[in-house]
Amino acid sequence: MSIPDTERQAAVGANGSDGADASIVVGNAALGTRTPQVAGGFPTLRLRRLRRSEGLRRMVRETSLNAADFIYPLFISEVVQEPTPIGSMPGQYQWPVSAIARQAEEIARLGIGAVLLFGIPAEKDEIGSSAWNEQGGVQQAIRAIKDAAPELVVVTDVCMCEYTSSGHCGLIRHGEVQNDETLELLAREALSHVASGADIVAPSDMMDGRVAALRVALDGQGFSDTPIMAYSAKFASAFYGPFREAAESTPQFGDRRAYQMDPANGREALREVELDIGEGADIVMVKPALPYLDVLARVRDRWGLPLAAYNVSGEYAMLKAAAANGWLDERRATLETLTGIKRAGADLIITYHAPDAARWLAEE
Ligand code: PBG
Repeated sequence: MSIPDTERQAAVGANGSDGADASIVVGNAALGTRTPQVAGGFPTLRLRRLRRSEGLRRMVRETSLNAADFIYPLFISEVVQEPTPIGSMPGQYQWPVSAIARQAEEIARLGIGAVLLFGIPAEKDEIGSSAWNEQGGVQQAIRAIKDAAPELVVVTDVCMCEYTSSGHCGLIRHGEVQNDETLELLAREALSHVASGADIVAPSDMMDGRVAALRVALDGQGFSDTPIMAYSAKFASAFYGPFREAAESTPQFGDRRAYQMDPANGREALREVELDIGEGADIVMVKPALPYLDVLARVRDRWGLPLAAYNVSGEYAMLKAAAANGWLDERRATLETLTGIKRAGADLIITYHAPDAARWLAEE
């Protein structure tokens, strides 16, 4: 359907743009039946009215970001002597325990709600025994952070992949990750984190039954008040690439598709969430965030418990790379990305952008 020329000219004039003759009054008559003047429709209804100024836009804004909702991942290394940059994650570092207190103070000062700790051990073995070493990097870092910034919530990632010589998230037998035997290892790891002062444990291994196993283990040792944040719907994603460089946790053979979820499965993600809630998860998570915003929205619709989204390493790397090339406005693109994750339903966002985003939000 094309608009006849005479009407098109009249309509342009009516907008009052480019100094058109104000005496040309164009009502709906000029637009004919295409834009009927009905109550509740154009021209009485104009959604642009509430977009005219920043004050109006701010008033009707549906979603707002808050540094307190951010969880900032930190890589604690037993190997490095000083903060060591991670090539594929510009601005992120592997931290020695000695540098972590100052870093924690800075994160707390920015108003960021929590940190999520990953460990890079000096020694790896078949069962990942460094994972529950009382003097391990993560265990020492927990104590240092709780000393330096007691109000900062310390979450620990509970998984075997950084600690096993295979680089897999559990114990290997006959070339396969053993589910039930791995549960015992995860429980030992989680207990050692909590004994060191961790506020929340976050199992990311995707073994069946791990939330229940951790709950039973924690309750049995007097830690019935420690919440579990479950990586419930964790997909086997290409977007973990940079993380594996950062955490030195690339599988030595095969991949993780026999335990992490198939990216094609949304309904199965809801089953994973449902099971974790049934096993006692206090917070559930969808990971990665951007290719799975639909999953996030469906979980949000169905359950009321706190929901986290993990804006993973590859998502961070893409944005940083584009920004470094001058292809994107980093600040706007980052805040838009985080807003989108929140709008889709996340209460909490695990993100490497947390310090930058917190600084930008403080300026706004
Ligand atoms: C596993 C774990 C991974 C991430 C968080 N926990 C990697 C994996 O499953 O291979 C990825 C996080 C990211 O990419 O930022 N312990």
